[in-house]
Amino acid sequence: MTIDSYILNHIDEESEQLSKLYREAHVRLVRPRMVSGHLQGRILKMLVRLHNPRRILEIGTYTGYATLCLAEALPENGEIHTIEKDDEMEDFIREQFDQSNLKDKIRLHIGDALDIIPRLEGNFDMVFIDADKRRYCEYYDLIFDRVNPGGVILADNTLWSEKVLESPLPADKQTIGILQFNEKIKHDRRIEKVILPLRDGLTVCFKLRIKN
Ligand SMILES: C[S@@+](CC[C@H](N)C(=O)[O-])C[C@H]1O[C@@H](n2cnc3c(N)ncnc32)[C@H](O)[C@@H]1O
Repeated sequence: MTIDSYILNHIDEESEQLSKLYREAHVRLVRPRMVSGHLQGRILKMLVRLHNPRRILEIGTYTGYATLCLAEALPENGEIHTIEKDDEMEDFIREQFDQSNLKDKIRLHIGDALDIIPRLEGNFDMVFIDADKRRYCEYYDLIFDRVNPGGVILADNTLWSEKVLESPLPADKQTIGILQFNEKIKHDRRIEKVILPLRDGLTVCFKLRIKN
């Protein structure tokens, strides 16, 4: 038994729906590696449980796996908005949400997050950034004022298969995007931050309540 399977054996199970979604993603989709999966999914749920956000925004839905995990721990009156740019994913995503008893808490938006976010009403208590690595800084700048003080910003893949340790080639815009994001976060005094060495790196930021 590996340490990874030991961990999965000793934490909460994912629901039957999630494990079916995960299997289907591997059969029907070309990049199933992007799905959060069992461990990260349970951690996302736990973060919602601990922080108790009422409104969550996810940037990058893909299959809806993480959306469903985040929605699991939302309070009764909670909601999650999730944005996916690839309209070819819409049928797959809606199929998943329609099968879930959490569907009334989920609002799916198809389109570019950079266009959609300015059109969404209200602020968020938690944001999960998990879309185009080249644009992490843009997403962060766009959402920052929309996150309530005391809110949480999560960003996935911030270790980027450990490519953050190398000097990227000029053409490797994704690694460059992640490096720029990590530098930006490091110097942002408006937040407390930590990188969890989970899977491909999960950055957790807490937005400070700045006193005037
Ligand atoms: C890593 S996957 C998301 C995985 C999902 N959050 C999960 O944990 O299961 C990234 C997704 O972001 C989408 N994406 C990329 N750029 C985007 C943008 N600007 N706005 C919305 N979605 C975007 C991609 O099409 C892809 O489906």
